[in-house]
Amino acid sequence: MARRMIPLFYFLVSVVGLINVALASNDGVGKGVVGYDSYKVYRFYKNNGTGDLIKDMVLPLTDDFNVWTHNKNFIDIMIAKEINLENAKGIENYNYEVMIEDVYTAISETVPKKNENRNNNDINHQQESFDVGKINMDNFFFKEYRDLETIYVWLDLLKRSFPDLVNIETVGETFEGREMKAVHVSANNRTMNPNKKTVVITGGVHAREWVSISTACWVLYQLLARYGVYRKDTKYLNALDFLIIPVFNPDGYKYSWTTDRLWRKNRQNTYWPNCYGVDIDHSFDYNWVSNDNFPCSEDYSGEKPFEALEASSWNNYLNTTKGEYQIYGYIDLHSYSQEILYPYAYSCEAVPRDLENLIELSYGLGKAMRNKNGKKYQVLSACQDRGSDLTPGLGAGSALDYMYHHRAHWAFQLKLRDTGRHGFLLPSDQITPVGKETYAAIRYFCDFVLNPDL
Ligand SMILES: *[C@@H]1O[C@H](CO)[C@@H](O)[C@H](O)[C@H]1NC(C)=O
Ligand SMILES: *[C@@H]1O[C@H](CO)[C@@H](O)[C@H](O)[C@H]1NC(C)=O
Ligand SMILES: *[C@@H]1O[C@H](CO)[C@@H](O)[C@H](O)[C@H]1NC(C)=O
Ligand SMILES: [Zn+2]
Repeated sequence: MARRMIPLFYFLVSVVGLINVALASNDGVGKGVVGYDSYKVYRFYKNNGTGDLIKDMVLPLTDDFNVWTHNKNFIDIMIAKEINLENAKGIENYNYEVMIEDVYTAISETVPKKNENRNNNDINHQQESFDVGKINMDNFFFKEYRDLETIYVWLDLLKRSFPDLVNIETVGETFEGREMKAVHVSANNRTMNPNKKTVVITGGVHAREWVSISTACWVLYQLLARYGVYRKDTKYLNALDFLIIPVFNPDGYKYSWTTDRLWRKNRQNTYWPNCYGVDIDHSFDYNWVSNDNFPCSEDYSGEKPFEALEASSWNNYLNTTKGEYQIYGYIDLHSYSQEILYPYAYSCEAVPRDLENLIELSYGLGKAMRNKNGKKYQVLSACQDRGSDLTPGLGAGSALDYMYHHRAHWAFQLKLRDTGRHGFLLPSDQITPVGKETYAAIRYFCDFVLNPDL
């Protein structure tokens, strides 16, 4: 244990320092050019056979709206308050409720409070609990969501603090010239893990899903901090390598901090002037079909597979490092809905190999998560979540299908909290509980992989 004490202490002090710097240079954080001060979010239930809500009700009133999520039970729509959907003719045929009264207030609960770092109590508290030899799981870093720069500096600190376990690798470069960073976590245990069996975890494929990024960082930190301290976690890292890409979409994430908190795609040019971004999760080549959407739309698939630079970089990276990793598991973190999705996304007709085990493992993950904090995660096939059972092609080109088909034995998409009360704007006080329940799922996953008879 003593081996870890000094680096961790150094690490905490450094993190506090770096957050001071990052905050000082980040005054307009999260407010951005796109103001959401006059929007609310409705949930419409589809349970009583109504017609096409968007076409019949919304479009005649405005095109200033945004579908946050939809599934077979409901559709969540953000819309300008002044539209007064409540007064629309025929609205009485729909069951609906207001999920978020004021989007602007909800956004402000996700960005760091300005004076966070001015309060030295946090630092003292960290050091104190640290000195008694207990690893503090409520690390200062996780008190707020962190911007891209802060996360990248933090990754470098991890590298310095855990030099025997961490390697930072570059997957590729984004359209705006940012680095896509992957953290390779390996105890280099050649006896236990001769083939470098690897679990891949990605966060932030969609920019606005901030909790997927904080959670990837949380899992990374737990793996490192618990190694050599707790028996089980030590075993996982002796027997498995991890490859974690906490911010899969750096340009989009950056943009969600500076300009538009609810941005989803990457930021590359499209054929249409002033419409930026391809939906990375519609860009992978496995059963890719064009979704025929206008380039301005949120789930624009691009004109060809791997048009999204992040997706093609990832594919090239895996191709060139193929000998080095034997990818065994893939977990793609998203939000929101509290769902565990198994392949395939592109079609409900395609039967995944090992379906029974895949479903059983999904329920195991869900149970591990519920046991942690009592939150229920629903298990379903990704095609149902995407709606490709109703409209073929809606789920085409996902990272999940690509990884499952080409690369990983087991693959899942985890849609984290919540079920819609805050949606994409999950307040920062939930970073830690979501991290904990997700880490419980990762541990379950490792147990499963290491002991197939479980
Ligand atoms: C749909 O829901 C509304 C509101 O609850 C109800 O008044 C209406 O009768 C329902 N329609 C059908 C066809 O069930
Ligand atoms: C490899 O893992 C085994 C089993 O956990 C452990 O006993 C051994 O010390 C590890 N080797 C190294 C070099 O860490
Ligand atoms: C990369 O690997 C995939 C899957 O194995 C393969 O289909 C593809 O042709 C490879 N691409 C290159 C450029 O090697
Ligand atoms: Zn997503």
